[in-house]
Amino acid sequence: MDKSYPTQVIGIASGKGGAGKTTVSINLAVSLAMRGNKVMLLDADLGLANAQIALGVHAPLNISHVLRGEQRLQDIIVQASSGVRLVPGASGVRDMASLDTSQIAGVIQAFDTLQDSVDYLVVDVAAGIAPAVVEFMAACQRRFVVVCDQPSSIADAYGLIKVMATEEDLDEIYLVPNMVSGQQEGRHLYRRMNDVCNRFLGVSVHHLHSIEADELVLQALRKYQSVLEFAPGSAAARDFRLLADAIMQLPPVTQASGRQQFFMERMLRLT
Ligand SMILES: Nc1ncnc2c1ncn2[C@@H]1O[C@H](COP(=O)(O)OP(=O)(O)OP(=O)(O)O)[C@@H](O)[C@H]1O
Ligand SMILES: [Mg+2]
Repeated sequence: MDKSYPTQVIGIASGKGGAGKTTVSINLAVSLAMRGNKVMLLDADLGLANAQIALGVHAPLNISHVLRGEQRLQDIIVQASSGVRLVPGASGVRDMASLDTSQIAGVIQAFDTLQDSVDYLVVDVAAGIAPAVVEFMAACQRRFVVVCDQPSSIADAYGLIKVMATEEDLDEIYLVPNMVSGQQEGRHLYRRMNDVCNRFLGVSVHHLHSIEADELVLQALRKYQSVLEFAPGSAAARDFRLLADAIMQLPPVTQASGRQQFFMERMLRLT
């Protein structure tokens, strides 16, 4: 990617838990890295099944150490699969509230210096539509909403889109249908949801590629690997590669200045 553009920050959310945010975050990050991009994955989902576990990396330090001023950002980053660099999340992120201004400035600066060496920053955001989730998504250039073809997942994805589009006035929202039987079902799900968004919210959402339901995803997880590495010939691996290809075709979102700095500033306010 041409580094005259800023790091492209992609937020992955879903509304409903268990729709596949972590799976999509990890495998998308690995696919983008396999295509020659410099990729960083930020685990902003503070639940249990986190990116560290799924990628089989051991991270003794995490973002809370940086936020407390005990470590530098570059020292907590762990190298994961296929060159993806992981910024481990932490459940102690509330500590951010106790930082003083100079500590906060230090963290922002640290993220900012990484800018040069990252093409894509993928953010695994938590489930739900809490203000923190929406804040994280607002700080990303592109917002991916993972959705399964089930009423509760569709309802929660719609709820998230509604908050992002109407309350925060956010665009660049993409649906990622997951665990579908094939591209046709994914497209159909996208069209249904886009119609509803158009009719009731007056906004359009985008769609690039859907991810098939594939039992090898679960097998890969049990081996602490991405499905790209565990089963490169699988349907899911193919879909993640095609999703990554489609993302690389998109024009970079360029912001006037320091969008990643903006990202970090917002993150620090989530206390
Ligand atoms: N395309 C797929 N095919 C088969 N299984 C999948 C697929 N995507 C996700 N899964 C499985 O569904 C489960 C939930 O996925 P995942 O943990 O990625 O969801 P999540 O949205 O991150 O959940 P949480 O809200 O708990 O963070 C996992 O067991 C995962 O292996
Ligand atoms: Mg998750």
